[in-house]
Amino acid sequence: MADTAKFTIGDKSVDLPVLKGTVGPDVVDIRKLYAQSDVFTFDPGYTSTASCESKITFIDGDEGILLHRGYPIEQLAEQSTFLEVCYLLLHGELPSATEYANFEHTITYHTMLHEQFDRFFQGFRRDAHPMAIMVGAVGALSAFYHDSTNVEDPTQRLISSHRLIAKMPTIAARAYKYSLGQPFVHPRNDLSYAENFLRMCFSVPAEDWKPNPVLTRAMDRIFILHADHEQNASTSTVRNAGSSGANPFACIAAGIACLWGPAHGGANEECLNMLQEIGTVDKIPEFVKGVKSRDYRLMGFGHRVYKNYDPRAKVMQTTCHEVLKEVGRDDDPLLKVALELERIALSDEYFVSRKLYPNVDFYSGITLRALGFPSEMFTVLFAVARTVGWISQWKEMIDDPNYKISRPRQIYTGSAKRAFVPVSKRG
Ligand code: CMC
Repeated sequence: MADTAKFTIGDKSVDLPVLKGTVGPDVVDIRKLYAQSDVFTFDPGYTSTASCESKITFIDGDEGILLHRGYPIEQLAEQSTFLEVCYLLLHGELPSATEYANFEHTITYHTMLHEQFDRFFQGFRRDAHPMAIMVGAVGALSAFYHDSTNVEDPTQRLISSHRLIAKMPTIAARAYKYSLGQPFVHPRNDLSYAENFLRMCFSVPAEDWKPNPVLTRAMDRIFILHADHEQNASTSTVRNAGSSGANPFACIAAGIACLWGPAHGGANEECLNMLQEIGTVDKIPEFVKGVKSRDYRLMGFGHRVYKNYDPRAKVMQTTCHEVLKEVGRDDDPLLKVALELERIALSDEYFVSRKLYPNVDFYSGITLRALGFPSEMFTVLFAVARTVGWISQWKEMIDDPNYKISRPRQIYTGSAKRAFVPVSKRG
């Protein structure tokens, strides 16, 4: 493609540079467009706009490809661990054995929370949604760890990144325990990241959690599958919040708030609710009819970027089978509903013509339920995993000498200037 694109409006003509990424479509650089031609571009939802330059994650939505720092998600899910993927996302390369050991040690030794932080949870109602607790509690980290909130200091940036990755499972497990009315379980340094999380969620003083390598591996893999996904809504929220110089804990809290929505991270909870509502395979045709008449959406299907099978959904489907087999629920009726729904949707003209394929959330709900989590916790687990993506993208932005505060413009369609009318004179 050419190195410049010509933009003409009225009698003005502007040459706009065309930028090239390593892979992916070329990008027309419109930064000077307004100054040179007096017009803005209009792109609500950013369907045609690259909001930043990034070296972290690449998605080819047409081919169903997801790469982290160049490595395919399938290979990472199969051969790596979540903490190794965290290192990769944060630092750009896979760690050496020593780097990995040091990183694992650092994360492990940051998992505890300030004792006073535990009292913070008591302020929430017992029936609070755990995502509501997450938004509040993660935002509150900046009140407890202000020695790592100076965004100008690279060392503090790194420490806050480590703290967030390490403390997120502890906070998430506390949010869960609080809703159950069970005592908090402290992290243990001899356990892996996923083991620690499962134990903090499922141990009670009367009975310790029993390790299960299949379930631990599944948890770790679910974390890997959700670790980063380029400039999605919550990541863009974190970048937007961070662009003003806000501290990383506050920025991640903003990301969590965005993730909560049903069109984003809340979809796994909605998807399981949907499968439960359908209940049995014979109810599917009726349900699909409602989707086609736009009464509701098929949750866990469709994606802004993937117009092909989400590669994470394939790994999640395999993980789902492994977990259900391990817990003796391979005849789970919800799995049958999911498989049949997928079969129908993949051959139905409505879904095929709109390129609607299963996304990562389609099988994650059934899997997480089999691991023992209630549906309110699904988005929380997504937040735990995505924290590394958010913080890596935030760090990349702050490290970029050219970063600017995010400040979109608008097309104004309200009233033009008019004179104020006192209330006594209004009709
Ligand atoms: N069920 C039925 N129809 C759908 C669905 C769906 N899940 N998704 C999109 N469509 C239709 C939509 O009605 C529209 O049809 P038409 O052109 O006839 O009006 C067409 O497909 C394009 O939809 P869109 O809303 O313009 O697409 P989008 O890129 O803005 O939306 C999405 C992407 C993920 C919000 C949407 O597909 C959706 O709501 N899916 C269900 C929720 C879900 O599973 N979200 C998780 C996404 S993956 C995890 C994550 O990133 O958080």
